[in-house]
Amino acid sequence: MPMGCQAVASCLSLTFTLLLDVLGVCLCHQAENGCPESCLCSESVDSGLVVRCSDMHLIAVPRDLPNTTQHLYLDNNLLLTIPSYAFIGLPLLFKLDLSHNRLAYLEPGAFQDLADSLSSLDLSSNQLETLDPKAFGDLRAQTNLSHNPWLCDCRLQLAMPQLLLDPSSLTEVVCNTSEPEALEAQGMPFILVATDLDFCTAIQRTTDVAMLITMFGWFTMVISYLVYYVRHNQEDAIRHLEYLKSLPNRQARSESLTLNQAVTQL
Ligand SMILES: *[C@@H]1O[C@H](CO)[C@@H](O)[C@H](O)[C@H]1NC(C)=O
Ligand SMILES: *[C@@H]1O[C@H](CO)[C@@H](O)[C@H](O)[C@H]1NC(C)=O
Ligand SMILES: *[C@@H]1O[C@H](CO)[C@@H](O)[C@H](O)[C@H]1NC(C)=O
Repeated sequence: MPMGCQAVASCLSLTFTLLLDVLGVCLCHQAENGCPESCLCSESVDSGLVVRCSDMHLIAVPRDLPNTTQHLYLDNNLLLTIPSYAFIGLPLLFKLDLSHNRLAYLEPGAFQDLADSLSSLDLSSNQLETLDPKAFGDLRAQTNLSHNPWLCDCRLQLAMPQLLLDPSSLTEVVCNTSEPEALEAQGMPFILVATDLDFCTAIQRTTDVAMLITMFGWFTMVISYLVYYVRHNQEDAIRHLEYLKSLPNRQARSESLTLNQAVTQL
């Protein structure tokens, strides 16, 4: 290789390294300073350690995140659930972005240990249908809950008051479907719908009606059985009675017959 070319190459790599240094970015690998393999870590005075794992086709939260992580970007991946204790040992985590995944379920304790530090959580554009208070625990973070197919039902209604999340977060819970089905709920923020409609008593009412119908059904069955039983027995009784009535006649006829025979023999 000619000398000039080598010089240009090393010069280029030097410039690149310098550029990254100037931007405050460092392309780190786990081996070097504890940044997970599928993430990019950068450190700055303003925002502390920023770990970017966006758009990496991740199906699980990376392990071994640096314990000094302050901002964690896991958006635009393929996460389906957040398991319990997924973010344990990150006492400085301040901002967590989980938007644009496929999250349908957050396990109880998913955000365990983040209650004291986390101030911003992005769960927007996922597949969440309900909020489990056990998943959020004591979390008070401002949370983006928009663009999820929320199912507005009794469970959600009971969960809402148990959540300690920043109250503005809950305005983004827009009903996609409702149980029981209520047309006025579709596309409306849950907290607005829930002021007019009590999803739990509505459910109660429909179960009451169902109970009533079932009881009526049983009642009808018992009554018709009784009617059938009585009728059937009545027919039997009548038949029996008729049989009994016919008995003496037959006896009388046979008696007269033997009498006739006796007379003719005489
Ligand atoms: C991170 O871990 C190191 C080594 O275990 C420890 O010395 C340090 O105090 C931890 N930092 C934080 C913020 O917990
Ligand atoms: C919440 O997320 C949506 C979509 O991801 C975004 O458009 C919106 O600006 C976010 N809201 C806030 C308050 O950050
Ligand atoms: C709402 O539900 C319908 C099906 O019932 C679905 O096609 C639509 O994508 C959902 N909207 C959101 C925001 O998920």
